[in-house]
Amino acid sequence: MRFSFSRDWPPSLLLSLLSFFCSSPTGVGAFPTPVGLSLVARDTSSVNLLIDQDFPDPSIIQDTDGTWYAFATASGPRNIQAAQASTPSGPWSHLNQDVLSNTGTWTSNYSSWAPDVRMVAPGRYVMYYSGQLSNETAYHCIGTAVATSVLGPYDPAPTPFACPLKQGGAIDPAGFYDVSTGRRYVLYKVDGNAVGNGGYCNNGVAPFAPTPIMLQEVSVDDGVTKIGDAVEVLDRNQDADGPLVEAPEMFRVEAANGTATYVLLYSNHCFDSPGYTVSYATAASASGPYTRSPAGALIQTGDWNLTAPGGATAVDGEGYVVFHANCASGRCMFGAFFSMDGSAVVVGG
Ligand SMILES: *[C@@H]1O[C@H](CO)[C@@H](O)[C@H](O)[C@H]1NC(C)=O
Ligand SMILES: *[C@@H]1O[C@H](CO)[C@@H](O)[C@H](O)[C@H]1NC(C)=O
Ligand SMILES: *[C@@H]1O[C@H](CO)[C@@H](O)[C@H](O)[C@H]1NC(C)=O
Ligand SMILES: *[C@@H]1O[C@H](CO)[C@@H](O)[C@H](O)[C@H]1NC(C)=O
Repeated sequence: MRFSFSRDWPPSLLLSLLSFFCSSPTGVGAFPTPVGLSLVARDTSSVNLLIDQDFPDPSIIQDTDGTWYAFATASGPRNIQAAQASTPSGPWSHLNQDVLSNTGTWTSNYSSWAPDVRMVAPGRYVMYYSGQLSNETAYHCIGTAVATSVLGPYDPAPTPFACPLKQGGAIDPAGFYDVSTGRRYVLYKVDGNAVGNGGYCNNGVAPFAPTPIMLQEVSVDDGVTKIGDAVEVLDRNQDADGPLVEAPEMFRVEAANGTATYVLLYSNHCFDSPGYTVSYATAASASGPYTRSPAGALIQTGDWNLTAPGGATAVDGEGYVVFHANCASGRCMFGAFFSMDGSAVVVGG
């Protein structure tokens, strides 16, 4: 089994960058670790605590110089947090800066959640995030902000990217670039919990609100211009998920025989309960249809002594996943190597 090369740049761009670095003496070693060529050497023994402070809903990206960055939900005085490492498995250094000090005029500039940064072209970084509405603070919508370097400053768009208010708004965006089709997407969750009828995560009392995970195609060049309508790829199922599915993240793997599997990571149950999980479903194309893993949750309370794991993001092509789980300071960032067994994701060896 090998992992496909599925980073965020079109192959043509990568080839030109590769030739640039290969022909530039000072560029040797500056190109990101080889990807798509082989699996990284892995320690399959365990799941590791990577950031021992509140760092919820982490996402992760490798910059052109090889350095890795993680971004997370607001904590303390920062709208969006960031951390840095030389490998996904750490050691990680928390950066004491706010990478989104202006979340946009449509927001309250408070309570920003679940950022995801993608490099769509050299010098164009897009941050997708969940911003709290200034006119209706019970709702969040998806915002986009762009920067010329990975740590910003990020310049927010004047209006939200997706804001289905009647359905509860939207949260938990994640970018996805499909290397096999050259198409780029943004996933997000329609936040039906914000219009629920109370109880468990405000959606534990009938009639239950849908919380669909949507897939919106966007321009491959800018990462923000929508192409067509969003399509639903998964929704909550009362028995399997309780009040919600959320925290989508997509990656693509290709078996040695060329069969591709699209993996949709998601969380279910309520984030502040021990029922929260990292779960996944698989499909043969980005838009689905998705089949839930028959084995149930991928990572759940009790596994590796974790409580309420969720909000996962995978490192495309390299078999590493970061997520949060409860810790003394809130929700800390953990990480684990994973591999594929056919279309099954296997964490921790
Ligand atoms: C937005 O919030 C950040 C973080 O709390 C703060 O530094 C910044 O000054 C705020 N900006 C505005 C326009 O209120
Ligand atoms: C509140 O703000 C959102 C996001 O900008 C907008 O879509 C919505 O129409 C606004 N609602 C009202 C009542 O102005
Ligand atoms: C498991 O986690 C709890 C707190 O979450 C901690 O008190 C305990 O020491 C941990 N046990 C092991 C074996 O790591
Ligand atoms: C290709 O390999 C995968 C993973 O080993 C396997 O699940 C699948 O059945 C294979 N498909 C074909 C057509 O051989």
